[in-house]
Amino acid sequence: MSLTKLVRSCIRRLRSVVILVITVSLLFYYTFENELDMLNSKAENEYTPSINAGSRLEDKSGVLDVQRDVISERTRLLATDLKVLHEKNRYFPLLVSEPSKDPSKLLETFNDLNLNALGTYRERYPVLNEASLPVSREDGPEFRIQSESFEDGGLEDAEMLSKIRELFVNSWSQQELIEKVSEYDWPLSLIDSLDSLYMMGQVEKFDNAVKVICNIDFTLPPLSVEIIDLSDVGSRALGGLLSAYELSMNNGLLEKAIEVANFLLRAFDTPNRVPLLQYFWKSKLNNKFPYKNSDVGHLTSLTLEFIKLSQLTHKNKYYDAAQRVYRTILSSLDEFDLEHLFPVQLDASGCSLISSDKVQEGKHLTDLNGMKSIDENLQLIHCQQTGKLVSLSDNGVRCEQLFNMDASSQSTFSNLMKSYQLLQGNDILQIIDDQHITKQDRASSFDGENTKFQGFPTKVGDFRDLHSSKQVFLKAMESVKDLMAFSPSTPLNENITLISSLKTKRRVSPATNELHVEVTRNYDMKFERCSLASILVLGSKVFGKPDYINFASNLTSGCFQLMQLFGGLQPSELYMDPCENTDCSFDSKLKMERANDGLYYHTDSSSTDIAVINGKNTNEAQQTIVIFAAKQGPSIYEVGDLEVDVQSKQWKNDPQRPLWVNKMGPMGLLAPNAIEAVFYLYRITGDTKWRTMGREMFKTTVDNLQNVNVGAKGVWKVNELHENGHGLASSVWLSQTLKYFYLLFSDSSYLSFDEYVFTAGGHLLSTTE
Ligand SMILES: *[C@@H]1O[C@H](CO)[C@@H](O)[C@H](O)[C@H]1NC(C)=O
Ligand SMILES: *[C@@H]1O[C@H](CO)[C@@H](O)[C@H](O)[C@H]1NC(C)=O
Repeated sequence: MSLTKLVRSCIRRLRSVVILVITVSLLFYYTFENELDMLNSKAENEYTPSINAGSRLEDKSGVLDVQRDVISERTRLLATDLKVLHEKNRYFPLLVSEPSKDPSKLLETFNDLNLNALGTYRERYPVLNEASLPVSREDGPEFRIQSESFEDGGLEDAEMLSKIRELFVNSWSQQELIEKVSEYDWPLSLIDSLDSLYMMGQVEKFDNAVKVICNIDFTLPPLSVEIIDLSDVGSRALGGLLSAYELSMNNGLLEKAIEVANFLLRAFDTPNRVPLLQYFWKSKLNNKFPYKNSDVGHLTSLTLEFIKLSQLTHKNKYYDAAQRVYRTILSSLDEFDLEHLFPVQLDASGCSLISSDKVQEGKHLTDLNGMKSIDENLQLIHCQQTGKLVSLSDNGVRCEQLFNMDASSQSTFSNLMKSYQLLQGNDILQIIDDQHITKQDRASSFDGENTKFQGFPTKVGDFRDLHSSKQVFLKAMESVKDLMAFSPSTPLNENITLISSLKTKRRVSPATNELHVEVTRNYDMKFERCSLASILVLGSKVFGKPDYINFASNLTSGCFQLMQLFGGLQPSELYMDPCENTDCSFDSKLKMERANDGLYYHTDSSSTDIAVINGKNTNEAQQTIVIFAAKQGPSIYEVGDLEVDVQSKQWKNDPQRPLWVNKMGPMGLLAPNAIEAVFYLYRITGDTKWRTMGREMFKTTVDNLQNVNVGAKGVWKVNELHENGHGLASSVWLSQTLKYFYLLFSDSSYLSFDEYVFTAGGHLLSTTE
């Protein structure tokens, strides 16, 4: 009796326990499914298909002259190999140097595409604790950016506006952007031009374009698109949609912007949450580190758009993505040859390879935060995750580094500064409170081995003396001023300021234990560097640095005068000699002598140190000294055609090129950078001379357009020069060049810098909520 009772009650109790146990095990099972998979995979042998990506690609192209059965045999082989690779890739990320080496390309032909699978995306490296968007501060700085007073431009400026508007409308119609909308690609150029349409009062065209755009699905790209260029789509599609939304308050545009952004976030799903700049969105091999050869400016290219989107949607995920990239950059400030500057190409994977000896010793599991990965030759390797951006190296030897201030290098710093404005004085480089940090750290150490995220310093104390955006920005600009600014020798007989690119080499001097960083200026010029002036002059206000205005204004004048020398055209690049006399005038006799003496031929660049320009301690033991290489000037690069014909005083192999120019790229006409600088200087200084300069630039641009593109009955098309007249105007002509011209002559309170930031792609985002 009592026994049966006991048994019954036992069963009753057990039942609930059993249910509980089942539930818990199920939960456990699902939660740790990945980890279990991973363990299983480790038990397998470590075979990866040892095919070589290059030779397989050749196989595909050589298919025509091979017997059919051979083909199918190869295809089958390739397919099985790829299947194995795909299986391995589920656990081990690919570490690839650049998109062209990406095995994802191999999979293109074997894409048994599953649309449903593409539509739903499950993150591999989910963020466990999102950084939250800082709340705007009551006591935040008030940004007074624009000049207090402007002269009234009167009728003359009104006339300019109508001329610019007319040219815009003609160009816009010529490009047939709406007509060209197709199901095969996203209409990036059309979106890019939306806000300009709106500003110039083209209501009907704007509404039509919006209608077309709102009917497009942006949750996934059209299937015909293989690769997504993250910074291009971010700048034109996301930036363009947000800007048009800010102006028109059309909610459809915001919805589309959210679709684009949610899709782009997929490219951030990498072990260190640094994005893949070229994103093979359909690829099954989607477990990947960011490419080793990455452009740091492009890594930050979505910053402003993502901040704005978080502000508009109150969702932190966008802000978090942008912030992680900047915090990785922050940990990498002294990784490269010039502190606070970043070489044009760097290794965004942050991987440092662990030698097989160390792996044998088991170090990869203990000290080194190792992650088993697959390299581009499809071999298994172990990567130590440094959480930084690191120098590119060639078999362990650090490569020579190239620094410049081209558009994308600038954007690292301009996005940082503008994010400070957009966040109303909150700093994207700073974490809000200590509690937040500790939570984050706990989260990252809890992560499984292969998803361990070590992007940030781990001790709370490390955050205390974090660099601020202001400090990072100012230090970088100081280096630009000290190292990159130069005066060229030109026929202008004037000391103008331009920005050169730099090459660096490092040497350790064992005697003194000093690290010598040898800097060589290339004395080159690109017009896209002119927009650095707009960053400097804006920075002078945002971070309170009045002397930057002079520098910006000298740089802009330099760009303008150089354009004048070329009749209003802009050579894509230009190599010159440095100024050697008081008025920097060009001495043709001296030049001929030197050229014919072979001075410009490449010689062995053994050098002696001439000037110490900057000393600092990286750590106690080693002092870093930055020096200019003794050999400066064009002789540092190898050119074959620097011989002058003494009779005609012309370059022998290129008589068209002026004698003071050592090398020159094709001429352009439509680029926005010079007028962008002029526009910023006008709005910020209020000096009428900038409008005068802008007027001159517009006139020469139109004259040139008419000259090179004359058609019947005075009808002319807007074409860029350097594609031999066949090239259509690029998207920037409408989204930037004409926009800056227009705003230069508009009422200065219209879209004021006190209320808006302009993205690098020329789109505006309001700094007030
Ligand atoms: C700008 O140019 C003026 C005149 O050439 C010169 O006096 C001044 O030092 C320059 N400023 C900077 C910051 O380069
Ligand atoms: C040209 O101007 C720059 C900046 O103002 C100055 O540093 C440099 O010494 C000047 N060069 C000459 C030759 O006067």
